[in-house]
Amino acid sequence: MAFKLPAQHHVLQLQSIEAGFQLKEVPTPQPGLGNAIIRIEASGIISYHREVYNGDRHYSFPTPIVGGISAIGRIAALGPDSTALKEGQLVYVDCVIHARDDPDTLFLSALHDGGAEGSKKLIRDVWRDGSFAEYARFPLENCISLDESRLCGSLGYSIADLMYMNYLLVPFGGLRDIKLEPGETIVVTPATGGYGGAGVQVAIAMGARVIAMGRNEEKLVVLKEHVLNSSPNAQIETVKITGDEAADLATLQSFGAIDAVLDLTPPQGSKSSHLRSATSALRRNGRVSLMGFVEQPVVPWTFVAKNITIRGKLMYEREDMLQFVKMLERGLFPHGKALVDTKSFQLSDWKAALDVASEHTGIGKQVIFIP
Ligand SMILES: NC(=O)c1ccc[n+]([C@@H]2O[C@H](COP(=O)([O-])OP(=O)(O)OC[C@H]3O[C@@H](n4cnc5c(N)ncnc54)[C@H](OP(=O)(O)O)[C@@H]3O)[C@@H](O)[C@H]2O)c1
Repeated sequence: MAFKLPAQHHVLQLQSIEAGFQLKEVPTPQPGLGNAIIRIEASGIISYHREVYNGDRHYSFPTPIVGGISAIGRIAALGPDSTALKEGQLVYVDCVIHARDDPDTLFLSALHDGGAEGSKKLIRDVWRDGSFAEYARFPLENCISLDESRLCGSLGYSIADLMYMNYLLVPFGGLRDIKLEPGETIVVTPATGGYGGAGVQVAIAMGARVIAMGRNEEKLVVLKEHVLNSSPNAQIETVKITGDEAADLATLQSFGAIDAVLDLTPPQGSKSSHLRSATSALRRNGRVSLMGFVEQPVVPWTFVAKNITIRGKLMYEREDMLQFVKMLERGLFPHGKALVDTKSFQLSDWKAALDVASEHTGIGKQVIFIP
């Protein structure tokens, strides 16, 4: 499928934190060395995009900027040094951009400048604009090939279903980083949020038994039902976070040996004791993937005495994405409503989209733009 790039396209551009977004018509980006132009089919919106772009989260990025995070799109044009990607091909457009001469320097497209001098330079001067747009320019290596005939043909995924990778990939990065094995038992804290819920889905697909912690019992019931609807043989337990560290620890211990913990606590939960209960319940040599914000994740002596490993993890590596796509193509995840209930918006409805994204959260829920 050959594309003819239009002269102009629509983008959702944040002029400044104070001024907010404007839908604009601007010149379409052109391909060059090392990049691809992608026709965006769906662009993910996360629960705290509104907080990022209204300044409440104090994330650092240059303005004006076209907003966004990861997306699903079709390759519309390729730089002359591309060798494997093809025009018209369906791809996952990854928001994690690494410096080519120092891959340890990285930032999140249109979301956070990464804090280093090099990453600030790249987001300011080279890869400024994100995927809230009809067309976007991304590094070639950020375009992850998707086998459309297998995924959308034989397996029945829609483009919106595939966009849920935006959620699933994050916990997968943490779970692979702590080498979760099939058959192991993992505690996911808190499990009732978007990324926590995705963590439960991914851990089940990886063959683990999951203990899902959350402070809202009704949401825990919904979470368990969502998992069991598509995976009736999955082993999933739920534990209410009571705020009583010792009591929550005792409840977790009643499930027997726990191998690992995945945490995705948001900043507003950073003082909660739930993660300390979970890490204290680990067996000797247990592992923890810390992907959220908790001020005191462990009880110091317990952590030493049991040889606990704690690893911080930002997002995932490229190999994780390739591995994840293989799992998806092998049919390890359900599709349609059994995977995710998607609410879609046009770019012009950005206000409603960001508001709904802050509410439509939890396992199997997402909000997206269809530009
Ligand atoms: N490391 C990474 O690469 C990475 C990537 C993406 C996101 N994250 C982090 O993941 C966090 C979660 O994002 P999300 O989109 O999943 O958010 P979300 O959908 O809003 O979910 C937030 C979760 O935190 C729980 N929670 C909120 N306040 C709490 C408190 N005081 N005590 C205990 N639990 C509390 C919520 O429980 P209820 O359901 O009861 O409200 C819910 O389970 C983000 O804030 C982000 O910082 C990290």
